Amino acid sequence: MSLPDPAQWWRDAAIYQVYVRSFADADGDGIGDLRGVHDRLGHLAGLGVDAVWLNPWYPSPMADAGYDIADYRDIDPVFGTLADADALIADAHERGIRVVIDLVPNHCSDRHPWFRAALAAEPRSPARSRFWFRPGRGPGGDLPPNNWVSHFGGPAWTRVTEPDGRPGQWYLHLFAPEQPDFNWDNREVREEFLDVLRFWLDRGVDGVRIDSAAILVKDPFLADADPGAPHPYTDRDGVHEIYREWRRVADSYPGGRALIGEVWLPDARRFALYLRPDELHAAFNFEFLTSPWDAQALRAVIDETLAAHAPVGAPATWVLSNHDVTRHVSRYGRAETGFDFADRRHGEPFDLDLGTRRARAAALLSLALPGAVYIYQGEELGLWEVEDIPGALRQDPMWRRTGGADPGRDGCRVPLPWSGLEPPFGFSPADARSEPWLPQPAAWKDHTVEAGEADPSSMLELYRAALRLRRSEPGLRSEREPLHWIDAAHGVLAFRRGDDVACVVNLSGAPVALPAHESVLLASAPLEDGRLLPADAGVWLRLRRH
Ligand code: GLC
Repeated sequence: MSLPDPAQWWRDAAIYQVYVRSFADADGDGIGDLRGVHDRLGHLAGLGVDAVWLNPWYPSPMADAGYDIADYRDIDPVFGTLADADALIADAHERGIRVVIDLVPNHCSDRHPWFRAALAAEPRSPARSRFWFRPGRGPGGDLPPNNWVSHFGGPAWTRVTEPDGRPGQWYLHLFAPEQPDFNWDNREVREEFLDVLRFWLDRGVDGVRIDSAAILVKDPFLADADPGAPHPYTDRDGVHEIYREWRRVADSYPGGRALIGEVWLPDARRFALYLRPDELHAAFNFEFLTSPWDAQALRAVIDETLAAHAPVGAPATWVLSNHDVTRHVSRYGRAETGFDFADRRHGEPFDLDLGTRRARAAALLSLALPGAVYIYQGEELGLWEVEDIPGALRQDPMWRRTGGADPGRDGCRVPLPWSGLEPPFGFSPADARSEPWLPQPAAWKDHTVEAGEADPSSMLELYRAALRLRRSEPGLRSEREPLHWIDAAHGVLAFRRGDDVACVVNLSGAPVALPAHESVLLASAPLEDGRLLPADAGVWLRLRRH
């Protein structure tokens, strides 16, 4: 059996998502930074991940935590400098860790020089044609050009004041008003991003995570959306041409540079179109993330995912959490275990023990599936969603723009606990000038890296052991070892990877017997009587001796 070409490392990698502002703060301002990441690379190497994906690090007014970029070729001073980025990339590579950065092509910041130039220019000018400027509707152009709404609440249009002081055109922003959408029909926009891509690939990054990848291309007529129908800007055919150009650039570099798309599309077949051999190398599988903790639902997602990826020859990806969704320890500990942006279910009763048991089992499930797996920082510590952040401290525009109706995403972005018994738990240095930018729960004293290392039954030790085995067992890791379902009781997921190893996850609510095996490689909970797999537990089995 052959292992994948190392130049295609993303096919079976374990990729750790570093949310930079909440990972580690080296300079004591209460906000994570690149030196903080650099200083803690040992944690990532010890965990056993193959790559990191860093959330946006560019100069930004931070209207959307860095997803509003003012300069695509530099680092925000709050995070460090380009020299810090170079040093981080070099040191990560020394340790065998690849580096993926976040690129945001759908929109920039309203402080980006192109948008400033557009504001200063005339309607219908070349400077405005890099964005979506349109006259308003109704008397005096007082109404937005169409009925689109922002993902963060309110209209997707904001009216500008023209240089002569009169109320003027409107511009499109599918997210916050500080995030104007680029017009991807404009050749200059396309060239600019090809150049930005080269800029970072030249600096040695191993890939880019492409933000909001399916919504770049808009209907040029900007027709009204039909209520209840899919967004008229999602998944328009023209988007594929953009990624074909990007792919040619990425593939012209040595060493394997990955294009990884954030593609929110419920239709697995349309999703797979982004993964054709001349487009993106990989894309996030959100159907797995949003699935409830239910054997049938999960099995259906796994089957559909594998079936959709196979014809295009792309690797599947498995994600349980990220910086936009409720942490899965919390989701799995509630009565309703799926995830839906429409309702984050903050404040609903939540059983931490149950959520943690399921999260442990889910870790073994996702790490045993064929393809790449993404780990969101803190899931290896068993962190949960922080739901009681005072309104005055919340920073997510989603919360502000919905008037608090949506609690937003701050609850999954709370700074990591590293050590010690009280905040800042080693996140910031002892002599820090400021507290962490979001308050950490006191109970995280039992979830620091230090506490996890001292407890063999911790989530951290489970992740370490699982990642170690995933590396050493080709049957687990290589996505060329297909998944074969094993007959199992109702509510139990059981599959083989090749002939050597199996994964069994018990969602049935009662203990179950295990299939015939040679030995237990790893279990998320102790077996009952040494042989029964408890409810909400998972296990990896060796099926035969080598
Ligand atoms: C993506 C990011 C999210 C951001 C949005 C706008 O969905 O993951 O954090 O707010 O795009 O850039």
